Amino acid sequence: MPISGTGNFPRVLSGSRCSMSAVVWSLVGFLLVLHMYSRFSNINAVNGDIQLRMSNHPLVHELEQVEKENIQIPHRKGKRSPRAAKRRPKRTTTLIDEFLDENSQLRHVFFPDMKTAVNPIKDSGNDSYHYHPGRIWLDTEGNPIQAHGGGMLYDERSNTYYWYGEYKDGPTYHAHKKGAARVDIIGVGCYSSKDLWTWKNEGIVLAAEETNETHDLHKSNVLERPKVIYNENTGKYVMWMHIDDANYTKAAVGIAISDYPTGPFDYLRSQRPHGYDSRDMTIFKDDDGVAYLIYSSEDNSELHIGPLTEDYLDVKPEMQRILVGQHREAPALFKYQGTYYMITSGCTGWAPNEALAHAAESIMGPWETMGNPCIGGNKMFRLATFFAQSTFVIPLPGIPGSYIFMADRWNPADLRDSRYVWLPLIVGGPADRPFEFNFGFPLWPRVSIYWHRKWRLPLSWRASK
Ligand SMILES: *[C@@H]1O[C@H](CO)[C@@H](O)[C@H](O)[C@H]1NC(C)=O
Ligand SMILES: *[C@@H]1O[C@H](CO)[C@@H](O)[C@H](O)[C@H]1NC(C)=O
Ligand SMILES: *[C@@H]1O[C@H](CO)[C@@H](O)[C@H](O)[C@H]1NC(C)=O
Repeated sequence: MPISGTGNFPRVLSGSRCSMSAVVWSLVGFLLVLHMYSRFSNINAVNGDIQLRMSNHPLVHELEQVEKENIQIPHRKGKRSPRAAKRRPKRTTTLIDEFLDENSQLRHVFFPDMKTAVNPIKDSGNDSYHYHPGRIWLDTEGNPIQAHGGGMLYDERSNTYYWYGEYKDGPTYHAHKKGAARVDIIGVGCYSSKDLWTWKNEGIVLAAEETNETHDLHKSNVLERPKVIYNENTGKYVMWMHIDDANYTKAAVGIAISDYPTGPFDYLRSQRPHGYDSRDMTIFKDDDGVAYLIYSSEDNSELHIGPLTEDYLDVKPEMQRILVGQHREAPALFKYQGTYYMITSGCTGWAPNEALAHAAESIMGPWETMGNPCIGGNKMFRLATFFAQSTFVIPLPGIPGSYIFMADRWNPADLRDSRYVWLPLIVGGPADRPFEFNFGFPLWPRVSIYWHRKWRLPLSWRASK
């Protein structure tokens, strides 16, 4: 994720419109007629019926309210911090500049201070169970949650959610002049909850290696995006993570196992999956128990996907290249009604960029790009994924088509103070953008991530737990 000097800023997706001709226009007319026909036939199809009703599902109706943001960019006085100036990408607008500027007058909009922290132990009444994307979020002991680049495990044996992520409560520094902002490895943090709101710190379940400099987990290295799944056959909890050196040249995955969701995890080894470089990654366990590794490869220009062995401790030889040449990272997968979906980000280091949703009938592909899933806020919020980067999508059993989108609002000036942006993600309703290979016919319902300053899960969801 924070590869310095990888300047792949969001590109214009619309392609060349220069060669419009009469032929194209008549094709457009023809496609419009066919499109209307396909919408009509969708309504009659069993799936289509569900999709159209879903987007008006009473439980999620509140989550689908569109909230707007009207932020006035302050008049600039004086100098911006050198870091913000250096990072300023060519094509972005001033709101991203403000976001990256540690001294911005808008700092409190993106990084509200401790006074507004969400404290599930104290916040009762009107605020209970409410998510406030971007605010500091405290655990049951009153400390800010440290689980960045995280993932969620729902443990059926204990009916408990476990949130794993990078424990980054150390100083941010640059290893050398051209290096990305970093925090030494401390370990993988784990938090447990029954309600997805009140989080108990279960401690560091995989700790850094303090002395052995040749060890993957030596504090001078990089450990990112830990994800844990449970293996029914072996009874082990298996963790996969991105392992790297401080310059991001090792580009490997690491694997660790434990008998308990709360660890301690035993670190097994790192490897380059299928022999390729691997940076941002995730794992996904399908309904049939087969798990997959998905990773950014070929210098982040494409993603690779392949099944894990039955014990989840290695990859099998099969591998598919997907989203080739699209320069995507931070993959988060989920499945709805037999279709696979994925949210990814662009590759701009710690700076936010535009998310894209992708879909596939088979997890091994082909994957098609559906467009930006973000709704609400304002245009810059949507083009910057609400100033956050995808990390995981949590299914909400009991409300089909509803998920929580988990993202990180990175604070490169002080990475430990990076924030969590959790928002409702809903699959339903007709797609609003044509896909790549299907001549403009929506094959899948829309994936929508709705901006909210404050929101909570439907009451009935908690009642069903
Ligand atoms: C809770 O909400 C009600 C109704 O909106 C309001 O009257 C009340 O002041 C709120 N209480 C707190 C503690 O914010
Ligand atoms: C240091 O780590 C390496 C790599 O994991 C290992 O092979 C070696 O035995 C370790 N050395 C010590 C002294 O533990
Ligand atoms: C990282 O790169 C810097 C500058 O290019 C170099 O000085 C340093 O030795 C490298 N560190 C590692 C761990 O490769």
